[in-house]
Amino acid sequence: MRISIFGTGYVGLVTGACLAESGNQVVCVDVDASKVVRLTQGILPIYEPGLEDIVHRNQLSGTLRFTTDASEAIAHGDVIFIAVGTPPDEDGSADMRHVLQVASAIGAELSRYAVVVNKSTVPVGTAERVRSVIQADLLQRGVSTEFDVVSNPEFLKEGDAVKDCMRPDRIVIGSMSARAIEIIKKLYSPFNRNHERIVLMDERSAELTKYAANAMLATKISFMNEMSNIAEYVGADIEMVRLGIGSDARIGFSFIYPGVGYGGSCFPKDVQALEKTARQYGYIPQILQAVEAVNSAQKMKMFELINRHYHGKIRGKTFAVWGLSFKPNTDDMREAPSRSLMEALWKQGAVVQVFDPEAASETGKHYGDRSDLTVCSDQQAALKGADALILMTEWKCFWSPDLKMLAETLHDKVIFDGRNIYDPQAIERAGIAYYGIGRGRSLLDLRSD
Ligand SMILES: NC(=O)c1ccc[n+]([C@@H]2O[C@H](COP(=O)([O-])OP(=O)(O)OC[C@H]3O[C@@H](n4cnc5c(N)ncnc54)[C@H](O)[C@@H]3O)[C@@H](O)[C@H]2O)c1
Repeated sequence: MRISIFGTGYVGLVTGACLAESGNQVVCVDVDASKVVRLTQGILPIYEPGLEDIVHRNQLSGTLRFTTDASEAIAHGDVIFIAVGTPPDEDGSADMRHVLQVASAIGAELSRYAVVVNKSTVPVGTAERVRSVIQADLLQRGVSTEFDVVSNPEFLKEGDAVKDCMRPDRIVIGSMSARAIEIIKKLYSPFNRNHERIVLMDERSAELTKYAANAMLATKISFMNEMSNIAEYVGADIEMVRLGIGSDARIGFSFIYPGVGYGGSCFPKDVQALEKTARQYGYIPQILQAVEAVNSAQKMKMFELINRHYHGKIRGKTFAVWGLSFKPNTDDMREAPSRSLMEALWKQGAVVQVFDPEAASETGKHYGDRSDLTVCSDQQAALKGADALILMTEWKCFWSPDLKMLAETLHDKVIFDGRNIYDPQAIERAGIAYYGIGRGRSLLDLRSD
């Protein structure tokens, strides 16, 4: 099929590459001209395992092209995907500007039947809005070109995006048009081979499904972080509790890791946007409010532990920070807890030496050059001259450090483990003080200090 994709971010680029790989002719369009130039040269704007190979292969064979020309893309596509950003507006609701701009561009150019697919995460009712924008533009042009709008939310996980796209858990298609459903089913048939993954529903349910999925996952994280805080107060170890509850098949082990709070481009904005939508319709979503409040507090957790350990005297201290991306296997630092931590440390006059396997250039984009930030090229370099180590993202390379070397290197011999990846006893045996999340003794010990 001939496919056009608006937006070459995590979703658009991965979708475009995977659809090209499965035999379609794909044109990806973006308003960011420099991104398009780099993509045309084979330089990817994001880090995503396995993506580069697929992009290069399909560029070479001519099945994947990049352009800034929306008209060319609209003329090309039998199916036109909208995969542009829906960032939070000032009041927390989803900013629909980019989605509606694309709808308008489609209405201004469309000259034959096409299926317009909303892949961006959008509030309930957006498929109707997109349809009416296109319809209004067609009317203005005095043409009666047929089209359908389908809601097809994306569930890929950054860091696993290519795998998720090639082998999705489910493919949600929200549409009442038999014609559009048939086309989209055919497009996805290579990804739907070994069992039926397509879940057909109406547009509004499809739109809400995406928010419900992210809100559920965010709720699991905040719930576990709340438990970890209770564990600290009562002197229990949340890691034991995690094993105890995860073994119940009704609960399961996934997404019940305590930590430094969720970040990234999806959970924070989607929980907020769903809350806004609910309020607009007259419902007060109490769980969503609590999920967000717990998360905001949790993002300051490491800073609080550090501040208490140093009795508020952290000015002039040098902290090694391992891991900056909001989770491993991505370079994405949007809403990353590492940012809340660094900004709080800087405010108190501390200095950070950071290392992340992939997020160095993102760090530069967010913070530029500043005297209290050194971006290191390896994890050992970040430790040089540091007083303490803070683990913020559980990349595999951080899991088994040389404890003897850490004890010799860190001036204050203390580790703050934001992901509970280290064995507290082993760290303490090495003569290093240990702080984790919800591991029983930290708050009690601090209170008796
Ligand atoms: N990142 C994820 O893990 C993920 C997962 C599922 C769903 N989503 C949703 O998918 C959507 C896209 O997310 P993303 O992370 O890929 O965003 P992104 O910010 O990485 O990329 C969006 C791209 O759209 C481009 N763009 C903006 N306006 C445009 C226009 N008028 N025409 C063409 N291009 C335009 C931007 O320049 C940018 O390159 C969002 O709604 C997001 O919530 C994201």
